[in-house]
Amino acid sequence: MFIPTKKQAEEIVKKYGTPVFVTDAETINNQAKKLLDAFKDLNAKVFYAIKANYNPHIVNIIKKSGIYGIDAVSPNEVQFALGLGYLPEQIIFTPNSLSDEEIKTVGNLGILQNLGSISELRRYCKFFPGSKVSLRICPETGAGEFHQVVTGALHSKFGLDKNDLEEARAICKKYKVKIVGIHSHIGSGFYQAREFKESVIEVCRIAKKFNDLEFFDFGGGFGVYYRPEEKPINLKEFVLAVKEPLDEFNKKNKKNIEIRIEPGKFLVSESTVLLARVTTIKEKNKKVFVGLDTGFNHLIRPAMYGAYHHIVNLSRNKGEVKLVQVVGNICETCDVFNKGIKMINPKEGDILAILVAGGYGASMSSNYNMRALACEVLIKDKKIILTKRIQTYKEIISLYL
Ligand code: LLP
Repeated sequence: MFIPTKKQAEEIVKKYGTPVFVTDAETINNQAKKLLDAFKDLNAKVFYAIKANYNPHIVNIIKKSGIYGIDAVSPNEVQFALGLGYLPEQIIFTPNSLSDEEIKTVGNLGILQNLGSISELRRYCKFFPGSKVSLRICPETGAGEFHQVVTGALHSKFGLDKNDLEEARAICKKYKVKIVGIHSHIGSGFYQAREFKESVIEVCRIAKKFNDLEFFDFGGGFGVYYRPEEKPINLKEFVLAVKEPLDEFNKKNKKNIEIRIEPGKFLVSESTVLLARVTTIKEKNKKVFVGLDTGFNHLIRPAMYGAYHHIVNLSRNKGEVKLVQVVGNICETCDVFNKGIKMINPKEGDILAILVAGGYGASMSSNYNMRALACEVLIKDKKIILTKRIQTYKEIISLYL
């Protein structure tokens, strides 16, 4: 995982202030290479789940690294990907709860849709008879780092119920829409392949009943670790989980089905830190609170899911190690980055790095408490490039009429 040096951090902070997301291009390239190498013997295409981080400079690194396309979940994400030069066939649309307008907008752009409800499928078929579609099924198995991000389980809102598959087929037949893909996404941030393999087996089982299939899409979710001492996940396990059921399916059905995966976290999370300055230290109830000039408006994962993000004090490499609680500047009790972390004696003015903040950090940011979105910089070929400037007060209020 990327951790900037003290020198890099000081240079960035001097130029752009805090808080600031700092992304290392090399880490993204390494993650992309690991994934492409692991899946190279399968007939596989990788679609980056752009919701994880849509900074266009970051997406361009991913594009150049050989990752084939984009998984988009909203018409704006689709439009953005097209603007970055992706072709319609390089974009897959995996939405939910779509309006008619949204179905039409994306369909008119010639983007394939992964639909997970009878309602959306019926409306799509009416608007685009004679076209192609992919079905998002519910694999009835799920996994993920928090219960809120498990998508494949029966109780989640995602995917078609298996009892609805016959109706889905009948609707498509009526409108001469070809079902060319089966999609499944079990959740975000899993570390072992057991549930993933179960979902692959379920997709292969369901696929037997469909004749026009061109691809299986197994979604994203490949886990990343949040502590520096942890080892990366073993991608080979996931490749094997696909290979065995797929080989059997291909052999039996005399096919060479294309495989698609849609990682978000795996490509971007480890590449980025959020640098923040310690503004306020106080002791209360025998605890040391270290207050930062950022909060859950910039990185909501700890407050929303209880996610662990390691934090290091880049301003000090020696001194007494203290147990502290690192908190943000948002007016909510849950605005805590870490309830108890050991850190070299933080002082007001120090620069802390919150690690593994590249996935679902900036992309889930908000203007809560009327605070500005943080700026973003990229370290590439030893150069430091500002990729997103800080929001102004005027911009924050600009939408009000
Ligand atoms: N494909 C689909 C259909 C998805 O819904 C998602 C993520 C992905 C791919 C990419 O999953 P990834 O590889 O990034 O795990 N905000 C949460 C994660 C939510 C994920 C939503 N869907 C977090 O910060 O942990």
